[in-house]
Formats: sequence, structure tokens, C-alpha cells
Amino acid sequence: MAPEAMLDLARQAAELLVNRIHKLPGEGAWDGEFREGLLATLMEEPPEQGRPGDEVIERAAREILPYTLRLDHPRSFGFVSSATTWPGVLADFIAAGYNINACTWLVASGPSQLELVVIEWFRRWLGYPEGAGGLFTSGGSAASLDAFVAAREAADHPERATVYMSDQSHTAFYRAAIIAGIRRECVRVVPSDDRFRLDMQALASRVAEDRAAGYVPVAICANAGASSTGAIDPLPEMADYCEAEDIWLHVDAAYGGFAVLCDEGKAALRGIERADSVGLDAHKWLFQPYEAGCLLVRDPATLEKAFEVHHDVLQDTVWGANHPNFSDRGLQLSRSFRALKVWMSIQTFGMAAFRDAVANGMRLARRTEEYVEASSKLELVSPASLGVVCFRVNPQDADMDEESRERINRQVLARMFWDDRAFISSASPHGIFSLRLCIINHNTTWTDVRETLQAVERFGMQGVANQQNR
Ligand SMILES: Cc1ncc(COP(=O)(O)O)c(C=O)c1O
Repeated sequence: MAPEAMLDLARQAAELLVNRIHKLPGEGAWDGEFREGLLATLMEEPPEQGRPGDEVIERAAREILPYTLRLDHPRSFGFVSSATTWPGVLADFIAAGYNINACTWLVASGPSQLELVVIEWFRRWLGYPEGAGGLFTSGGSAASLDAFVAAREAADHPERATVYMSDQSHTAFYRAAIIAGIRRECVRVVPSDDRFRLDMQALASRVAEDRAAGYVPVAICANAGASSTGAIDPLPEMADYCEAEDIWLHVDAAYGGFAVLCDEGKAALRGIERADSVGLDAHKWLFQPYEAGCLLVRDPATLEKAFEVHHDVLQDTVWGANHPNFSDRGLQLSRSFRALKVWMSIQTFGMAAFRDAVANGMRLARRTEEYVEASSKLELVSPASLGVVCFRVNPQDADMDEESRERINRQVLARMFWDDRAFISSASPHGIFSLRLCIINHNTTWTDVRETLQAVERFGMQGVANQQNR
């Protein structure tokens, strides 16, 4: 392509994105289309001859890209959304333009050194010991898989390996354990207490029972921000226990970990620095575009022991002891340059902006809890923890059985989905069907949250009235 044509297309793409970002708050947080509709517009033979690039971009912007959950919308409260920063987006563009493969030091020494630098930043933020290290991964699922493989390899007899997690742990862990070769029946799900935190006594009994039966407990997972409730497991107690029992402690801090940037979050996550490994997702509360997961391990040699293999075709890439090859620390050989987006965002805005943005999410979650507590129409199911709050419509003066309550809350969720600008999702902590807000977008204001809660109350009261008129 001629340079002018390249620049024209880049300008068109940049304008598309900047317009989208600025119009976003006025639009709905979700749009989607049924399969038949999308199939009719998109299924075709790939063209034999190319078309003008501007038409291709314009068609993608019209027929494909709008049909998504707008995860960066200030009222996107479902699941674990995230809002990007513009320098982060540009970093992905630049890394792709330079065609970086952050696999080995020989192939990408600058990017590899930057990955070490950013991981060192993460290490310091968590208060993790000096010498700890890790790598960027696609996300929290991949980070947990790498951690389980390292934990399994570090155990003496991995053949009868068992792993432990709470009933609030992300399903990514169950899946990662299975992929890492732990048999399904050896993944132990430990009950959580009334605050959705792993029950230490239940954990200790299960481990003792397993040891007596000849199993080898290789890893215990702790939540540092469970996705349903935001719950933080008792990290210091779990670290004591794992140390005493010589079991690998992995902390899932995929969404919650960056709370350490503000004082309140740091205090809430005390103990995280004692884990053997920690998974973090910069594509969640560090405002980066997908994919930007990270695994930190206390001792990077444990990762290298688990993953290093001799590749004949890559023998030239072994370049001394102080030049780590990230492809020897995890699953991926070819790897995109994920550290650049974190680095460019932080260089552009500075740490103070990130600290404020994370603290703002925690503050809004607390205000949500206060609002729910003060409302006669809503009931708190799980208190604000990091950025998550679960609640349900349950008017104090309405006489409803559990079934009707769940039906009304499901109806509210559907009404929010179709009739409101916000997107929220649900969870069922300890079996209670609940509406859930996860508030970690740096653009979200209290007005966004308050109006969403008011819509929930309005739809809820309409549901209650319909129920009573039946
Ligand atoms: C607490 C937690 N752990 C793990 C994951 C899985 O991470 P990823 O989607 O980056 O693979 C998520 C995803 O939302 C999460 O919230």
C-alpha cells in the first residue's frame, strides 16, 4: 500500500474509534443480534478481488462491531467489564504494526525487557518479594493454567494430585485444573462462609482427609475478589496454612488485584504478597484492552522448570542466564507484546490517575451498598467488596415467597436488558438469585450508578404490583 493510502485508512480507523468513545455514554451498553440475522449479512465466500479499504472498515463498523456488549460503556455493570485507555489501544496498534513476537530475548529484547519492567512494577505494587517474576498471558484463565502446571511440577508426587478452591471461585480454575491434568474428581470445592469467603476449617479437614487417603494436595486457590461477590478469602490465614502444609498457594486476583493501588484495596488484600503465585488481569481494573493477563510467581524458576523444553529449531535463542525467554515460562511460544499497553498508559497518565480511578470504583461500590441498605425496595445480598455488590428487589412490605422473589428479580433483569441503557448481570451466591453490579470503569459516575439502581427499583415495583394483581 502507498503511504498516503495507509495513512488515510489509519485516520479513518482512528476517527471511527474516537467518535465511538465519545458517543458511547448516550447509547445503550448492549446491542446484539440473532444468529440468522448475522448469518444473512456476513456469510459469503471470501472475495477473489479486494475492495477499497475504506469500504471494508465502514462495513465492519456497520455490520459487525456494533453487535456486542459495550464493555467500556460507563453503565456496563455486568460480569467483569473494563474500560480501556486510549494509549493502551494505540499500543496494541503499534505493537501489531511492528509485528512484535515477544517469545524470546533474541527475537524481541526490547519488548522482553519492558515486560520485565512492567512485571516488576506489578511485583512492587503487590508487595511481592524481590526476585519474584512472571509473564503476561492472554488472561486470568491462562495465568491459572500456567500456575497449576508449575504447582503440579513442584509437587513430589503429582500423580494423585488434588487442588482446592472455594465454591465462589471462578470456573476458569476448574477448567485450568482439568487441563493441567488434575482429574475432575480431584478438584475439591470447599464451602464458603456467610461472607462468601473460603471456610478454613472445611479446607483443613478436606486436605487432611485427602492426605490420609493417599492423595497429594498440590495447590490451594484463594480469591482476591471472587467474580460473583467480590469476596476476598482469608489470605493471611491461607498463607499460614499453605506454608505449614507445604502446599502451593495461588491467588486469583484477576479482577481484584489492582485494588492494591489504593490504600483501602491494599489493606483489604493483605496477605496476597505471601502467595506462591498470583493471577492478575490488566484488561480488567487496569483499564487495558483485551488481552492483558499476567501471572506472577514467587520464584520464576518454578515456571521455567515446568515449561522449559528444548526446541531444535529455536536452539539459537538460548542467550545466557539473564535473558529470559518468556516462551519458557508458559504455554505460548508466539506471544503478542502485552506489556506495551500497560507501560504506555501509565507513562501517559501517571500512577495518580490509576490510583484515583481504582479508588473511585471502590467508592461507588460502597455508595451502592449504602443506597441499597437505605432503600425500602431493595435488599443487600453481599456487601460491597472491591467493586462488586449483589442485591435484589425485596420490598419490606411485600409478602412474597422465595419463588416469587426470584421470578420478580429475573423479570427485572430482563427489563433492564431490553428497556434500560445500563447492562447488569446476575449471580446466585449461596443460591440466592441476585442482581449484581461490578463497578470498575474509570468513566462511571454516581449518576450512572444511581439511575441504574432507580431503574431496578422502578421495574421491581412494577413486577411486585403485577404479582399482587394476579
Ligand atoms: C475473578 C476472576 N478470575 C478469573 C477470571 C478469568 O479471567 P480471563 O477471562 O481473563 O481468562 C475472571 C474473569 O472475569 C475473573 O473475574
